[in-house]
Amino acid sequence: MRLTRQQIEQFEREGYLFFPGLFSADEIGVLNAAVPELYSRREAYNVREKGSDAVRTNFAAHLISAPFARLARHPRMVQPVMDLLGEELYMHQFKINGKMAFEGDVWQWHQDYGTWLNDDLMPTERAMNVAIFLDDVTEFNGPLMFIPGSHKKGVLEAQHDTRTTSYPLWTVDDALIRQLVERAGGKHGGIVSPKGPAGSMILFHSCLVHASGSNLSPWNRVAVYLSLCAVSNHIRRFKRPEYIAHRDFTPIECLGDDCLRRSDPVDLPWKDGLPASALQTSLQEIGVTA
Ligand code: SIN
Ligand code: MN
Repeated sequence: MRLTRQQIEQFEREGYLFFPGLFSADEIGVLNAAVPELYSRREAYNVREKGSDAVRTNFAAHLISAPFARLARHPRMVQPVMDLLGEELYMHQFKINGKMAFEGDVWQWHQDYGTWLNDDLMPTERAMNVAIFLDDVTEFNGPLMFIPGSHKKGVLEAQHDTRTTSYPLWTVDDALIRQLVERAGGKHGGIVSPKGPAGSMILFHSCLVHASGSNLSPWNRVAVYLSLCAVSNHIRRFKRPEYIAHRDFTPIECLGDDCLRRSDPVDLPWKDGLPASALQTSLQEIGVTA
């Protein structure tokens, strides 16, 4: 899938692009069928909500589960990101966020690049977030919210919040959010919230400020979040475990457009468990070969 000039300009202006219903019900069905078994595993890569057994986020399913390994190489997702970043990509992070019915907790206002810079020493913001809805997303089940154009502010001051939820996050304070929303149009478009059927996809800039509320509805809001980074912009520090911030900078090779409807073999290196190396961390900065 290639982007039009108009879409590229819209991305530059707003910091995101929304593709409602990009993947079919059959394609999403294949992914959804694999989620319960992944979520049931008692592994470090399943982070559960505070005081609950509900999975908040599952990491690295593309190294464990065949349908998600195929999604990670899907041309409908990878090609537009290559067009926007103008370079080959590797997978920096792969999450399946639960936001489960009644139990899904908030994601505070933040920029993802803030974390990638502060924790992983990713040199620049040349990385992209992709969200793919596995459930219908409505106003009721905790949709993602964006402040349009906020990516143009670059890296904002952030605090490391280790208390609000079960997952530590570099968050932006309320006063700054108030200002950014006002500048983006206040009550008239200062916050947007793309909603749509399962199979919809959002591409959003790594500096775009975003958040989501809790899910008090009886409907899950499971969504895949893939973070693709330009290969030359790979992280320079392994402070976080490898299942969270990946260390394999090999360029992604796309499969065919029908890959989710086929069962071609894919490499699943962590299928039988995490290697010990995936849990190791270091504060050392890694050298870069020319
Ligand atoms: C995120 O920002 O990484 C997740 C937000 C969400 O799942 O709503
Ligand atoms: Mn985020």
